[in-house]
Amino acid sequence: MKPRVLSGMRPTGALHLGHYHGALKNWVRLQQDYDAYYFVADWHALTTHYEEREVLERHVYDMVIDWIAAGLDPDRSTIFIQSRLPEHAELFTLLAMGTPLGWLERVPTYKDQIEKLKDRDLATYGFLGYPLLQAADILIYKAAYVPVGEDQSSHVELTREVARRFNHLYGRGNHFEQHVAAALAKLAKDDQRYLEKQRKAYGETGSAEALAKGEAVIGKAAAGAPDFTADDRELLLGHLKGSGKTILVEPQALHTEVLRLPGLDGTKMSKSYGNAVLMRDEPAEVTKKIRGMTTDPARVRRSDPGNPEKCPVWDFHKIYSDDATKDWVVKGCTTAGIGCLDCKQPVIDAVIAGQQPWRERAERYLANPKQVHWIVEMGTERARTVARQTMRDVREAIGLNY
Ligand code: TRP
Ligand code: SF4
Repeated sequence: MKPRVLSGMRPTGALHLGHYHGALKNWVRLQQDYDAYYFVADWHALTTHYEEREVLERHVYDMVIDWIAAGLDPDRSTIFIQSRLPEHAELFTLLAMGTPLGWLERVPTYKDQIEKLKDRDLATYGFLGYPLLQAADILIYKAAYVPVGEDQSSHVELTREVARRFNHLYGRGNHFEQHVAAALAKLAKDDQRYLEKQRKAYGETGSAEALAKGEAVIGKAAAGAPDFTADDRELLLGHLKGSGKTILVEPQALHTEVLRLPGLDGTKMSKSYGNAVLMRDEPAEVTKKIRGMTTDPARVRRSDPGNPEKCPVWDFHKIYSDDATKDWVVKGCTTAGIGCLDCKQPVIDAVIAGQQPWRERAERYLANPKQVHWIVEMGTERARTVARQTMRDVREAIGLNY
């Protein structure tokens, strides 16, 4: 069994090169080695765009086509839509009951976004709950890893806290103590005493060393004692950490190094700033956009030398050009040996070449929208099986299975 990764993207419509290099490229890579779940976070889009319902559907399918165009393989990756799985909402509701308001108010993106998106009224209950909905998305699939940008770290951290609290509150029901005692009895007497000592030390001081020692004893039993089950192992780990039985799994953020690609004007690439090159822009459009890109402002005339570090075109070269081309840029720019249009040409060529396979794959699906719907349908059903199982466990743990 491969470990599971899960990530989501809000449907903002056709994707641009920033999405590709910042996230999608990584998603495509991860589907080789992980059980990959990728979904359209359409409810999350509504937290900020609740007044724009009519664009949502088109955006959803445009985005899925771009995912597949970029190389997400529906046979390897489970591709689905959040709103088709009401189980996410159910878990969100149940988690909301025990989540302190302060945890949500303190998430740094909360105040940031309210500041940044001044033109919208984000003083809503849904927007405050944004990271908790994200936690439900992640926890419902028991994802081990969540590939996201640094800006989302705090959301994964909140998810971990929420899982820990849930396990602590509800992982003790159903005769937890009795089950722990039975599992403990399967260890050698010395190991039992040793484990209790580490548990006490960890509980009192939070010592990482005590935790590691305790885990090592449990690991030894798991490897050695023949009647020691995976369930026993989970119980004892919960006992050691004081968290109870693991019902929801704490995920880890997966920050792979991503090269940041700025927009045409040097600020963050974003469709709403009008500075984006779309994954599916036509070659003529790409040429026009890149030729018009901002460059080092010091190069007013062709004869003025420049500094690539002060130029967004250089960030494109870092992603798209080989070493020889990059040397040519640095030399030519700093000595005014080349003009900016000369410098941009290899970028234009490389971007267009890079888009070619995307365009070919996208065309097949644009011509056959039913196939895209079908892929999403399959993914949604696969996701539903997992989500339903988790919800059964969750309801039982809370005592809602009457
Ligand atoms: N908040 C994420 C973003 O803006 C999108 C998202 C929603 C997400 N739910 C998720 C990402 C679950 C990872 C896991 O990019
Ligand atoms: Fe930028 Fe290239 Fe012009 Fe230098 S020559 S300022 S790197 S576009």
